[in-house]
Amino acid sequence: MPSQPAITATGLRRSYGDHVVLDGIDLKVPRGTVFSLLGANGAGKTTTVKILSTLIRADGGSARIAGHDLSAEPDAVRASIGVTGQFSAVDNLLTGQENLTLMADLHHLDRKTGRRRTAQLLEQFDLVDAARKTAATYSGGMRRRLDLAMTLVGSPQVIFLDEPTTGLDPRSRRAMWQIVRELVAGGVTIFLTTQYLEEADELADRIAVLDHGKIVAEGTADELKRRIPGGHVLLRFADERDLESAVRAVGQVSRDSDTLVLRVPHDGSLRSLKALLDRLDRNAVEVDSLSVHTPDLDDVFLALTGNKEKVTAP
Ligand SMILES: Nc1ncnc2c1ncn2[C@@H]1O[C@H](COP(=O)(O)OP(=O)(O)OP(=O)(O)O)[C@@H](O)[C@H]1O
Ligand SMILES: [Mg+2]
Repeated sequence: MPSQPAITATGLRRSYGDHVVLDGIDLKVPRGTVFSLLGANGAGKTTTVKILSTLIRADGGSARIAGHDLSAEPDAVRASIGVTGQFSAVDNLLTGQENLTLMADLHHLDRKTGRRRTAQLLEQFDLVDAARKTAATYSGGMRRRLDLAMTLVGSPQVIFLDEPTTGLDPRSRRAMWQIVRELVAGGVTIFLTTQYLEEADELADRIAVLDHGKIVAEGTADELKRRIPGGHVLLRFADERDLESAVRAVGQVSRDSDTLVLRVPHDGSLRSLKALLDRLDRNAVEVDSLSVHTPDLDDVFLALTGNKEKVTAP
């Protein structure tokens, strides 16, 4: 059923001893989208991935993955998902090709299908030349690509990627992003954790921020950026007279008369930008140039995590 979300989770809880890692997590991920879970080291991202991929059990709560109940139908869940863990599943003693063949066997693909799928993945992940070398000789980027290729052998509908690009150079990272985009274009759902906020910004349809066991914010990258202060519009004027009339039109703003620049606080929305422009227009203010500055995800992350007292939950 295409209308059903790929992942729903309600009230997921998990503790290690008396350390509460997940304190009631709700998630909803539509099919064919990328969902990114952000959080500081130790926030519980890998724990969440492990629970949703049946590797460990939750202490409480429930989840459905690809239409199957996590606790009642773990085998059906396993058959629909792929997991690329934070730490590589590649066997160093085997060649790239052998690693893939092993996965094909684990998925009970017949020999012919297995061989075809293996060849196709080696091609897709640019590993044809390295196929017969042992994985021990691979670079970090090659190993990461092989790891993801192994995840794809079973043609999963939902893929969990736990920090898939940590340690990759910018080119390899971009290559990985491209692969993720192609998978999503093919209808696959991606659940991604990352330390690189730029990565979430690039790939994710929706982002959730995990902190102190709870989801403290959820939304599109733009929605999250709008939630924290710091966004502003800079208006530059040709002369003092225009600057003065702008001050009269928009009211209290910080000004720099030397550079003829006004800084107007702004929430990043199109509506408030339009309201500002309309007001300047109504007052016949001549603006020389305008630039909009929105906080980036780094600002969001720092504002939302790590310092409990400062967090204002939605
Ligand atoms: N097997 C375990 N036994 C005890 N504590 C654990 C275990 N696994 C994880 N933890 C604890 O649970 C918390 C969350 O760990 P988790 O690996 O989910 O964090 P993470 O968000 O993935 O961090 P990172 O960004 O460093 O990968 C940490 O405090 C960790 O020490
Ligand atoms: Mg982790």
